[in-house]
Amino acid sequence: MFNGKTILITGGTGSLGQSLTRRLLSTRARTIRIFSRNEEKQLEMETEFNDSRLRFLLGDIRDLNRLDRAMEDVDIVFHAAALKHVPKIEYNPFEGIKTNVIGSQNVIDACLNQNVEVSVCIGTDKAVSPLNTYGATKLLMEKLFVTANNYLNKEKYRTRFLAVRYGNVVGSSGSVIPKFIEQIKSKKKITITDPKMTRFSITMDQALDLIIDVAVSGKESEIYVPKLKAYSIMDVKDTLFEILGKTGEEIVGIRPGEKLHEILINKDEIRSSWDLGDKYMIANPLKVESEIKKMHLGKIKKIDDMETYSSDNVEKLSKAELKKTIIESGLVNYN
Ligand SMILES: NC(=O)c1ccc[n+]([C@@H]2O[C@H](COP(=O)([O-])OP(=O)(O)OC[C@H]3O[C@@H](n4cnc5c(N)ncnc54)[C@H](OP(=O)(O)O)[C@@H]3O)[C@@H](O)[C@H]2O)c1
Repeated sequence: MFNGKTILITGGTGSLGQSLTRRLLSTRARTIRIFSRNEEKQLEMETEFNDSRLRFLLGDIRDLNRLDRAMEDVDIVFHAAALKHVPKIEYNPFEGIKTNVIGSQNVIDACLNQNVEVSVCIGTDKAVSPLNTYGATKLLMEKLFVTANNYLNKEKYRTRFLAVRYGNVVGSSGSVIPKFIEQIKSKKKITITDPKMTRFSITMDQALDLIIDVAVSGKESEIYVPKLKAYSIMDVKDTLFEILGKTGEEIVGIRPGEKLHEILINKDEIRSSWDLGDKYMIANPLKVESEIKKMHLGKIKKIDDMETYSSDNVEKLSKAELKKTIIESGLVNYN
């Protein structure tokens, strides 16, 4: 799939963008274009990666002309650029809309204009029945991507638009595990919002596996969701105390816009969701079931064993698995 291909990653200097770049450099891709705004981040990445197949393009996804030019001769697009900090977007909603919604529409337009083969956007659990503006903007991004397949007309347009959806990657900035680690290292009590809280566990490698797999085997107009185990916040606390030593804990209450459990497929979406064995797929509800089955060669079945796909109704990581996940994330020094 990637042999000889030209790939563009919007938000290529971000944490996902850099990991994805590393993964794609291990294929026989011809060129990988990194598209983002900040020149310092690009310079750092250029020096660190030091690979002649990389091209660094300064630009803003709010600027369609720039995207159009950047996507000339591009075969595959991964759309990872976003504003993603919930409180920042709550306070500056216009900016969230300009980047996450209008920017995503520009990415779609440029893909269509430049006849890109496949375009995969990176979604988030926060888009599911959203409680905050960030989630709402990412929901619109998904909707734009899924609906963009309406243009799929073999003579003029050929881009297959797809989305993936998952929650916080273990160890990503602002997420709970690094926050607790920081608190323990500073000898502070760790701040637990609600002892009942659960979250899905996804590592960067698992996220990359999904994204690559979807670019290769996704059909069109679909949102893909990984099958994951979950963890409880109290297990994270116990595991970190075991690794780093015990400080203390304080219950601070759930924050506005935060959910007790992470939902990756809600009750309404379940009706158009399919089990593909290693992952789930939310089909465009306007598509006919027989067509969907045909596209997937019958190797799928409707989800019929759960009402919602939520972190409180899946298997939990054992404490040993959680400890391994935290240690392998490199967030703690452990000998
Ligand atoms: N981190 C997670 O745990 C997680 C979980 C689920 C989904 N996601 C989604 O995954 C994607 C990547 O997340 P991440 O953690 O890698 O984010 P990140 O580290 O904050 O990276 C964001 C990237 O987007 C670029 N960017 C921001 N605004 C832009 C604009 N207007 N035009 C062009 N580039 C722009 C940034 O570079 P410049 O600032 O230099 O432009 C940076 O390269 C996001 O769409 C996010 O919603 C993340």
